[in-house]
Amino acid sequence: MITHKAAERAAISLTLDGVHVKEEAPARMLLSDFLRQTCGKTEVHVGCEHGVCGACTVRVDGRPVRSCLMFAVQADGHNVDTVASLGSRDELSPLQRSFHEHHALQCGFCTPGILNSAQVFLEEHPDPSEREVVEMLCGHLCRCTGYRAIVDAVLDCARAGKDETP
Ligand code: FES
Ligand code: FES
Repeated sequence: MITHKAAERAAISLTLDGVHVKEEAPARMLLSDFLRQTCGKTEVHVGCEHGVCGACTVRVDGRPVRSCLMFAVQADGHNVDTVASLGSRDELSPLQRSFHEHHALQCGFCTPGILNSAQVFLEEHPDPSEREVVEMLCGHLCRCTGYRAIVDAVLDCARAGKDETP
């Protein structure tokens, strides 16, 4: 019989940015809090905590997910990727490089979430229209950039990818 005390915590085993992680967490802990507080992944930003701003978006099994709308226990057995898996300070991914070149961020608060969504979007839409990029960004709030530079960065990354295709 599971006591109330035992039921309050849950074992969570997942792959996080390619590394196997095994932790215990309160059963009702949000994935966003688990990633930041338990796993130290402060690159997962938390804004509204209500699924509105998109800042907390990570990739779960390759899909963009708002980590404030998911319990950590629901990620048990899954692959979770943060923006850290895309590239590093010394070796930016093509999408990160394009953001850098287009000055597509100011304070950077929204950026990790947008990069995660845009990464999945470009994998599924290698030749997107501007309209499609704008629609993808509808789920993300940015208070700084006015979005123009972000749209250009995503479109340019897609174009560069096409140019590199033999
Ligand atoms: S913090 Fe999750 S959507 Fe805003
Ligand atoms: S760059 Fe500041 S919120 Fe988007």
